Amino acid sequence: MTKKIVTLAGDGIGPEIMAAGLEVLAAVASKINFDYTVEAHPFGGAAIDETGHPLPEKTLTAAKEADAILLAAIGGPQYNDATVRPEQGLLALRKALGLFANIRPVQIFDALKHLSPLKPEIIEGVDFVVVRELTGGIYFGEHTLNDRSARDINDYTYEEIERIIKIAFEIARGRGKKVTSVDKQNVLATSKLWRIVAEDVAKAYPDVMLEHALVDSLAMKMITNPSDFDVIVTENLFGDILSDESSVLPGTLGVMPSASHAANGPSLYEPIHGSAPDIAGLGIANPISMILSVAMMLRESFKATAGAQYIENAVNKTLLEGVLTKDLGGTASLSEMTAAIIDNL
Ligand code: NAD
Ligand code: IPM
Ligand code: MN
Repeated sequence: MTKKIVTLAGDGIGPEIMAAGLEVLAAVASKINFDYTVEAHPFGGAAIDETGHPLPEKTLTAAKEADAILLAAIGGPQYNDATVRPEQGLLALRKALGLFANIRPVQIFDALKHLSPLKPEIIEGVDFVVVRELTGGIYFGEHTLNDRSARDINDYTYEEIERIIKIAFEIARGRGKKVTSVDKQNVLATSKLWRIVAEDVAKAYPDVMLEHALVDSLAMKMITNPSDFDVIVTENLFGDILSDESSVLPGTLGVMPSASHAANGPSLYEPIHGSAPDIAGLGIANPISMILSVAMMLRESFKATAGAQYIENAVNKTLLEGVLTKDLGGTASLSEMTAAIIDNL
């Protein structure tokens, strides 16, 4: 059956990397007989410019009816002081689709090992997944801004924590059988509850080891001992920060994909990085984060494992050949790198 993929290219480098991701998808689809249609919709700043709203009704309806959603990136400095911001559209979309489970894998392709700012012996064997809670916490609590005071409420229910911790245990069961639950339990009430729930959930997974870590020291250990980790699970804000930090291991945000899942309904796939306004329109962005998000979509939404594998192998081969964009220290353009990946499929 034909699968409907809704694309939200967004802002900055978004349209450039989305086009690259779709070119790769088209090339791999013909190899694996994957039948699909693409429906593009305005989102983020592009949608504000067009309709005044970052998540127009039509875009949301299309996203709800999709079999999967590909999102590139939103945001830009021109909206920094605006009352309506592109980021509001992103948060509203995640909430409306119930995308509570954000999976951010951290792997280092062989070809990138010598490019990492860290010593080879430190990054040897790095292969972990950050499981970020995506529809709760301080992002979605009440925000109050007054002239002389401001506050943001961090709210979590037992059930919200339980479902994300379960996802982490399920993922760990299929790989290294270790969960590192990250909190700030020495200070925050939400973290105290988080730790209790993690212990409760762990009882159903005697084959998986659970360790707790405080977010401050974990931020350090992620860089000094990154190969110690298998599945890291944490709340929305900590997950946002730690996952960008983890991009230091491969050396660039430009290779980091993600998947976001709901209890029911379509999943969404997007790079973890933003719209990179500093390089937008220059044709030099690294498309790999988007291309690997396409691979995650094929594997996780469409069970097209072979297609995902073709893409991942082609990316590795391209990097091994030394086709590198500027963020990786090379001179290849976005289109040169995309063409090389397609050649290597
Ligand atoms: P950013 O992730 O856009 O960029 C950080 C740095 O990484 C920049 O130097 C950028 O050039 C580089 N970079 C990012 N992706 C790259 C790629 N594919 N290839 C090469 N280099 C890449 O973060 P920022 O500059 O802090 O934020 C810019 C805007 O993006 C903000 O409006 C922010 O809110 C938004 N944002 C959106 C998303 C999203 O759409 N999911 C995620 C993060 C940030
Ligand atoms: C991300 C981004 C978003 C977040 C912003 C743009 C709202 O940083 O997807 O990681 O904080 O979740
Ligand atoms: Mn982020």
